[in-house]
Amino acid sequence: MKAIIPAAGLGTRFLPMTKNSPKEMLPVVDKPAIQYVVEEAVNSGINDIVIVTGRGKEVIENHFDVAYELEKILEKRNKYEMLKEVRRIAELADIYYIRQKEPLGLGHAIYVARKHIHDEAFAVLLGDDIIISEKPCIAQLIEVHKKVNASIIGVKRVSKEDVSKYGIIKYSKIDENLYRIEELVEKPSPDEAPSDMAVMGRYVLMPKLFEYLGRAKPGKNEEIQLTDALNEMLQEEEIYAYEFDGKRYDLGNKLDWIKINVEMALKREEFTTLKDFLRELIKS
Ligand code: G1P
Repeated sequence: MKAIIPAAGLGTRFLPMTKNSPKEMLPVVDKPAIQYVVEEAVNSGINDIVIVTGRGKEVIENHFDVAYELEKILEKRNKYEMLKEVRRIAELADIYYIRQKEPLGLGHAIYVARKHIHDEAFAVLLGDDIIISEKPCIAQLIEVHKKVNASIIGVKRVSKEDVSKYGIIKYSKIDENLYRIEELVEKPSPDEAPSDMAVMGRYVLMPKLFEYLGRAKPGKNEEIQLTDALNEMLQEEEIYAYEFDGKRYDLGNKLDWIKINVEMALKREEFTTLKDFLRELIKS
């Protein structure tokens, strides 16, 4: 299976940091956010990935490329561990890049990659969302996709005040954590939301979606919305939702970015003093 990672967004929620740097390159401890997303795909058996970029995002391509001078210097200084890691990143997967020339929305960004996909189901992983789980989130969705042979979307419950940040589904339950989608609503107000079940940036989609994306008219915020095309597709074929196992962070959100950095740093042995530092800080 191939994957599309849309990474063309302007990152306006993270200004001024994102004025001239892609939000996908925000560090989570010592790795850029998008590397976590690429690694999730790779650890799920995907080795053909299209990243949809835009102006100013060249640094993403460089990150997954060979860094010739750096490798030579690391070798000369006997920094073999780091050299291994730098090389590993360049060999993670076959990564292709295509530019979304105008910021016309998530649906449009996915449509831009259509010629790479052909007539097969494909994965979509949003570059903003990092999901920490034992079994990679997209692998969980692929497993269910193989059973239902239809599109499947990763979901999680959110609080009522948060529904307006997400695509929200109307559903009927089929099995443990598995739901049939009846409707999707993009960023509804709490009163309009059909449930508290939110779309979390991980999808396995049937290729027919591209036909609906090609016909989609601008929706919410004047953008071509993936949610609208999915609603159209629902008229013709089943789409499922799976409440995956894992914790999700929204890297477009400053507080989530701080939280994931603290949480991931606390897991690292080299930062054992961090816990005491945080305790002292909270006391003072
Ligand atoms: C997009 C989707 C939305 C989904 C969200 C998850 O919105 O349009 O349906 O719930 O990602 O992160 P965005 O956050 O890009 O505005």
